[in-house]
Amino acid sequence: MITHRPRRNRKNQAIRQLVQENQVHVSDLIFPVFVNEGKNKKTEIASMPGIYRFSLDLLLKEIESCLKLGITTFAPFPNIAEKLKNKTASESWNKKNIYLRSIREIKKQFPEAVLMTDVAMDPYSSDGHDGLVKNNEIINDETLSILARMAVAQAEAGTDIVGPSDMMDGRVGFIRNQLDKAGYQQVSIMAYTAKYASAFYGPFRDALESAPKFGDKKTYQMNPANSKEALLEAELDSLEGADFLMVKPALSYLDIIQQLNENFSLPIAAYNVSGEYAMVKAAAQKNWIDGQKIRDEMLLSMKRAGAKIILTYFAKEWALDHKK
Ligand code: PBG
Repeated sequence: MITHRPRRNRKNQAIRQLVQENQVHVSDLIFPVFVNEGKNKKTEIASMPGIYRFSLDLLLKEIESCLKLGITTFAPFPNIAEKLKNKTASESWNKKNIYLRSIREIKKQFPEAVLMTDVAMDPYSSDGHDGLVKNNEIINDETLSILARMAVAQAEAGTDIVGPSDMMDGRVGFIRNQLDKAGYQQVSIMAYTAKYASAFYGPFRDALESAPKFGDKKTYQMNPANSKEALLEAELDSLEGADFLMVKPALSYLDIIQQLNENFSLPIAAYNVSGEYAMVKAAAQKNWIDGQKIRDEMLLSMKRAGAKIILTYFAKEWALDHKK
């Protein structure tokens, strides 16, 4: 006789939902968006079907339609003209740059929209690296002052959360300190805590035209083979005052999400990155997979692993498909 029949809890949709442990909510999602100069311009990113670089006027419309779908939080990234890039990324704190203008304008038109802005040199760096380059090396400590200057400029423009994505040592503490000194105690920090040196970022670098001009990012981003290092990074970011810990990419790093969630009290975010999006879209276009179902299963796996928040290019289409 079979006494234990787990199938009883799967026998119909209502019971399956009663026992369902995890669920994705629209309020869990952060939508990364790309902005560039111009007017009335919208360019699809070849390797990210359905994702565009918007001029600011169109980005505002995009944000408005996402807010109506219940998406509350956006992570803008800038595509900066090559001629404005230099060694020190000085365009990043130019008050008139497209990024800071966008932050000001979005917060002015939609004060309820939450912005998480990117703090790293690569969009503005003529070397295409996240830190200052000297003799082909990425210099840690001098990069920190640049990052802090960028973070304060974004805070001044009205951002809610800064997201240092550079993986320099000590940047969370340094940025926290400089934000506080400038009077921005209320601006949060979402630390890119465990950011791996990953091939999954390819399509994003297409979108920003920000690929490294030489070498790779392995002296600052983490080795995909390691997990203890993620715990160390999380410990440091927590001690330095981070408000959220992020794991990036998400899908190949679900074990890291789980470990951070089990070991730390801060909310964990997962970044479902560009390459993860591109793979689903490419296979779905060929009708090799059911793109919507794969998307939903992937996002659910991140929640099950322990992510409270998911940054995903799927945010808008997910919200459209799950509209109440
Ligand atoms: C760089 C940055 C990257 C992403 C966000 N910020 C790429 C990189 O480290 O080269 C990737 C996001 C994605 O792939 O979706 N500061």
